[in-house]
Amino acid sequence: MGLNLFEKIVKRHLVSGELNPGSEISIAIDQTLTEDPLGTMAYLQFEAMGVPRVKTRLSVSYVDHCLLQEGFENPDDHRYLQTVAAKYGILFSKPGNGICHQVHLERFSCPGETLIGADSHTPTCGAVGMLAMGVGGLDVAVAMAGGPFFLSYPQVVRINLHGRLKPWSTAKDIILEILRTLTTKGNVGKVLEFGGEGITTLSVPERATIANMGAELGVTTSLFPSDAVTRRFFAAQGRLVQWRELLPDADAEYDETIDIALATIDPNVARPHSPDNVCKVRDVGRLKVDQVLIGSCTNSSFRDLMIAASMLKGRQVHPDVSFGVAAGSRQVLRMIAENGALSDIIDSGARILETACGFCAGYGQAPQSGGVSVRTSNRNFEGRSGTKDAQVYLVSPEVAVATALTGELTDPNELGMEPPVVPVPEKFFIDDRLVLPPSAGDIKVYRGPNISDPPHQTPLPDHLRAGVAIKLGDKITTDHIIPAGPVSRYRSNIPKSSDFIFHRVDPLFAERCKDFGKKGLASVIVAGWSYGQGSSREHAALCPAYLGVRAVIARSIERIHMANLVNFGILPLIFTDSQDYEKMQLGDGLEIQNINQALNRTVIQVKNLSRDYLFEVSHCLTPRQVEMIRRGGLLNLYGAHLPR
Ligand code: F3S
Repeated sequence: MGLNLFEKIVKRHLVSGELNPGSEISIAIDQTLTEDPLGTMAYLQFEAMGVPRVKTRLSVSYVDHCLLQEGFENPDDHRYLQTVAAKYGILFSKPGNGICHQVHLERFSCPGETLIGADSHTPTCGAVGMLAMGVGGLDVAVAMAGGPFFLSYPQVVRINLHGRLKPWSTAKDIILEILRTLTTKGNVGKVLEFGGEGITTLSVPERATIANMGAELGVTTSLFPSDAVTRRFFAAQGRLVQWRELLPDADAEYDETIDIALATIDPNVARPHSPDNVCKVRDVGRLKVDQVLIGSCTNSSFRDLMIAASMLKGRQVHPDVSFGVAAGSRQVLRMIAENGALSDIIDSGARILETACGFCAGYGQAPQSGGVSVRTSNRNFEGRSGTKDAQVYLVSPEVAVATALTGELTDPNELGMEPPVVPVPEKFFIDDRLVLPPSAGDIKVYRGPNISDPPHQTPLPDHLRAGVAIKLGDKITTDHIIPAGPVSRYRSNIPKSSDFIFHRVDPLFAERCKDFGKKGLASVIVAGWSYGQGSSREHAALCPAYLGVRAVIARSIERIHMANLVNFGILPLIFTDSQDYEKMQLGDGLEIQNINQALNRTVIQVKNLSRDYLFEVSHCLTPRQVEMIRRGGLLNLYGAHLPR
């Protein structure tokens, strides 16, 4: 039997386990990446392991998120990241060099290699046939220290793209269409593998847009083959030597196959407040818009900005629209500056934003109260823009420009304009001087006053008595748990960060946990479906652990967040009967007896002490994860056993 792409890469990297869906496997990791707010804790954890130099083939630390630097905290973090990278053998991508996923795709991606990143959109590099996954920072720390990465062997879903897109329909519209169909729920434990003759019509940056937003589906990752299109991209990046062909075998098997006719796809839009709330742009009706923003790791490539510049050339943005454009990398910015496209964008009335994540995660560009913002980014969760009652719509760069010109959400088919054609350049601008190599000398790691050590978690007690510290609904994102934006400046300071847990949902949460702690009780979080979707930020587990949370009981928990909970010694438990979710109330006292023994079974009995009834919860932890929970997390389990 032939092999699919996922099987080919995994077989070459397999360290342990059986290749059966649901089994736990571990694989060797070739590359890691981090961004700044999540990177600091990953490197603090790495330092705590006492390993003198990273053992990965390549590790890159990017500074791309918190660049507003409104106080000393972010610049202190940046200096810590630069010095810790220099000391331990990590490349350091300076602020201004670009967004981690865009730069990694351009300069470091490698077909057939494995990459884990402390950022949920790491699968972007799946566009070139790289097995790239978003994980928690502690997983990155372990990989840098030479440990394998553990994952549940997924189902592999083949998505065949047929034909070609209509004029004005784009790669963004393809992934929005997939989100409309598959939604953000129920895709945990799956890998999407793209094929079909339609993929040959998509350039690497277009494939990257699709792989990037696979994260919104909740899948483990997305993969494209490495073919002639990929080869051209590598040649233009001056990296042909790193290209290799990687195709699935003709008789490869898949757990499921989905066929999509590209010609049926129209310009789409994801409406507030979820990336799967998708419809055709023309079906929204008249919608006056206050702000339009182009950028983020989803749509900030040379291709995207050239499309925007071509549409804007000689035209003026609507006077009521605040319009911002951010290139995804210094390479992109430099190229559009050189060929004059940047001038076309400036002349249209655009605000040129820093080459960084920026608005995507609420670092600047908050919309007005109740404002309508149309963006090319990948998430439109409530409040993520920085304005709680703003309405954020996700679209392609083509729809964004059409909207900026008219002042209303607009399908570009209505503009009466010819769609621009942007060929892949023969040669990209290459200048890696903002990627600093590690030092061979003795480096003193800088630690500003905002940086605290990673907290220590105690082993699981044998009898768990806890109080329900919060009861939540469905689709709670990590943005709900701990927001991005200005609060991110405290990511290196866990005591301070912990004060912001569920701050926008229930400002009394942290106090309630502390009160339970004073009474000798742990805390429990109760939630509905898809708890922990969105960003991979491990602080959404680390900070609750610091506050004394020992269990999350939910209807379902998303993949990366579940792994993060386990990494920090928090039990991820699932209601076996939905009625028990309904019955549970804020403040209820819960008890699990002999929990260390109970964890040997997949179903555990919990007593609700306040309402005097027993109910059952289940877990899907592997024996390795059970051991991790018992010891109080990954750092305790592996800290003493890593290869030095
Ligand atoms: Fe940055 Fe937004 Fe991507 S925060 S890494 S541009 S999802």
